[in-house]
Amino acid sequence: MTRQVIAALDASWESELVAAVEGTAGYTVARRCADLADLLAAAAAGHGEIALVSADLRALDRPALHELASHGVEAAGVVGPGDEPGELRLRQLGLQVVLRADLASHEIDDALDSLEAVHGGPPPTGPDGLAGGHLDDGAAPPTPATVIAVWGPTGAPGRTTVAVNLAAELALREPTLLVDLDTYGSSIAQVLGLLDEAPGVAAATRAADQGGLDLAGLARVAPEVSPGLRVLTGLPRAGRWTELRAPSVAHVLATARGLVRFVVVDCGFAIEDDEELSYDTLAPRRNAATLTALEEADELVVVGTADPIGLQRLVRAVQDLASVPSPRARVVVNRVRPTSVGPRPERRIAEALGRFAGMDDLTFLPLDQPSLDAAVFAGTTLAESAPQSALRRALATLADGYAAPLPERRRRRR
Ligand SMILES: Nc1ncnc2c1ncn2[C@@H]1O[C@H](COP(=O)(O)OP(=O)(O)OP(=O)(O)O)[C@@H](O)[C@H]1O
Ligand SMILES: [Mg+2]
Repeated sequence: MTRQVIAALDASWESELVAAVEGTAGYTVARRCADLADLLAAAAAGHGEIALVSADLRALDRPALHELASHGVEAAGVVGPGDEPGELRLRQLGLQVVLRADLASHEIDDALDSLEAVHGGPPPTGPDGLAGGHLDDGAAPPTPATVIAVWGPTGAPGRTTVAVNLAAELALREPTLLVDLDTYGSSIAQVLGLLDEAPGVAAATRAADQGGLDLAGLARVAPEVSPGLRVLTGLPRAGRWTELRAPSVAHVLATARGLVRFVVVDCGFAIEDDEELSYDTLAPRRNAATLTALEEADELVVVGTADPIGLQRLVRAVQDLASVPSPRARVVVNRVRPTSVGPRPERRIAEALGRFAGMDDLTFLPLDQPSLDAAVFAGTTLAESAPQSALRRALATLADGYAAPLPERRRRRR
């Protein structure tokens, strides 16, 4: 059976390549497209199963390839003879088959047949998008990275506080990256006293879209702010949320897995999926960054606040999670104090959450405004500014659930 090809190719060798494809046994060119928009329209209209794209096709990026894939179209790249930078770019975009424009028909047949072979299989590329990955042959594989999403309902329950300090505790043990994906109000840069100009997550997703995000690129935009702790700051303005699209965020997180042992993500509160409200399923989604983080994460921390309203929101939040792809939640009850729920607050809260929501395995964090105010004022973490506080110790214990505990001596010294 002949398979239909749609093509958006460089004019200087388009005709020869199209003629060569027509000479193949298995493929025929159904549509020659002038630009990417034309190609996406042809894909949406079901004109082809395979797209051939030039390395220099304007605006070709990961979201565009994702869109092709969503229409069931597999993409293969095409480069002019000797165009190595073009080939590198296409491979960094994730294309596994890249043809040279001067191939003979039988070679094109073989190359496009191999598209079917790779389709659905695990990608043979490393996190930097280059074939072969970044590991030396024979090196022992490192422990796989763990992505921990920190999420919680509206009402500022302490997602950022938990994310920042959990990351800081983990960084004392293993290399860690803290990522701000809150598209409603990023705040990690401010909490840690980082300059506004830090390139952050917008630069990382831009590089991901353009196929240029590799380990070195990610390391550049996520500088180390203290030993072992890298930070990818959030959007400088919430209005720029369209820059954090699902495929790019997923790519940033996948790349981060190759850079550090722990990735801690500060998520926005909202998890409704606008896709369900819109007919345009490819439009950017406000909550895409958070939904992607929840989906990609290996571990999930849900933060609620210890007063009647906060606890009710926490229960609803955990129920809402049932309809969102995400790992099992570990529940953290923050700002625990007797004044909001009565004496012996931990016992009362545990009883209530156990009885009404079936939640066990809770972590309690005490109310401690002076320590947090001092930490934020100094642009630092509790491990540095209030190492002996009960709040810091509770956060260190939370980190013990993910990484080997710190030796007591080191913990005290910090
Ligand atoms: N255990 C605590 N004790 C005292 N204050 C706390 C505690 N946890 C958080 N706070 C304070 O509550 C405020 C909100 O916390 P944080 O920014 O972590 O919440 P958030 O859930 O990230 O909110 P947002 O919706 O703005 O992202 C901050 O001023 C923080 O210092
Ligand atoms: Mg926050």
